[in-house]
Amino acid sequence: MTQQFRARVQGALLERETLGLTRSLQVLEGGNQVSTQCGETEFINFSSNDYLGLASDKALTSAWQAGLDVYGAGSGASPLVTGFSAAHASLESSLCEWLGFDRAVLFGSGFSANQALLFTLMHKDDLLLQDKLNHASLMEAGVLCQATMKRFKHNDVLHLSQLLSGDQNALVVTEGVFSMDGDISPLKEIHQLTRNNAWLMVDDAHGVGVLGEDGAGSCNAAGIQPEILVVTFGKAFGLSGAAILCSEEVGNYLTQFARHHVYSTAIPPAQAYAITHAIGMIQTQQWRREKLHELSQVYDELLQSVDGYVATCTPIKPFILGKSQHALNVARQLKDKGFWMTAIRPPTVPEGSARLRITLTANHSIKDISALASALVQCMESNK
Ligand SMILES: Cc1ncc(COP(=O)(O)O)c(C=O)c1O
Repeated sequence: MTQQFRARVQGALLERETLGLTRSLQVLEGGNQVSTQCGETEFINFSSNDYLGLASDKALTSAWQAGLDVYGAGSGASPLVTGFSAAHASLESSLCEWLGFDRAVLFGSGFSANQALLFTLMHKDDLLLQDKLNHASLMEAGVLCQATMKRFKHNDVLHLSQLLSGDQNALVVTEGVFSMDGDISPLKEIHQLTRNNAWLMVDDAHGVGVLGEDGAGSCNAAGIQPEILVVTFGKAFGLSGAAILCSEEVGNYLTQFARHHVYSTAIPPAQAYAITHAIGMIQTQQWRREKLHELSQVYDELLQSVDGYVATCTPIKPFILGKSQHALNVARQLKDKGFWMTAIRPPTVPEGSARLRITLTANHSIKDISALASALVQCMESNK
């Protein structure tokens, strides 16, 4: 029987390789910094989600160290056992106060927060409507949960309204900023549409910290309040973990039934302490968002006439190349020129839209952006 497992594993690996879609891990030094090193070679990093440049910030590192001194290393247990400390409680109330919700429930990752929410809230006969480009964590949970899932065309409010027209109990789920495209959901229109006949859940992993007043995110920028907001701490916060923001009642429900919360070790209290510190930095250090805006303008000026360029008003800059092999080639050529760049290929993005996912951070300089733009132009010329 064990032969079947081996054959399955070997077959799947071979198929990935044949399609040119094999993924592999690489050890990087300073992957959370602009200047990163792989082996002996240095690169300028254009691949992280550390938009505000907090992941290697000394003040944030010191906050985590201070948390370790006060609370020790680990949380010791799941939240309902002994894993919920004053640092966790303080993080939850900071999030609620900042983002305008009554409750915040913490998770070890955005992936588990999304899964927990959909598995807990969605029952048989419910309707789950998701934007076609939502993150894998949402799509997978949608397929596995008991509800009927339908996908609406990306950012297409008309299509959503057609799917929503019945009288089924419905949840609409969208990202605030789409992770692979860097574009923004039409949240105001979606909110208007769902107001009376559905609940709205926004995953703002890539919007919080970057958009809105004091970095309060996509919903704040659009002037709406969804029933459920998911924020993750692995992007603009420079750390990791996630929270679901919701009403008191939904918070109580998740505390009873969200299995990824109930049956999983709480994040270390020192990490919760550091995340609370990051919230303060995000709110008060407006210069980080201003810097991103400035870098984004330089990027647009230098690349807008080059084939593959896509305009976005976020730090996520997709550069569309089409075929997977082409994306791999360009990413390799850029690596040879000293730029760390990931080629994103199907199944992460739709077939025929393989791309470079270029991300800017507040720690980049104008010189970095100019150097990247010249290298990219050269690569595109040489591949003609
Ligand atoms: C939109 C979105 N939601 C959720 C996640 C998962 O978050 P985490 O990395 O905290 O598991 C990601 C991660 O890339 C994401 O892009």
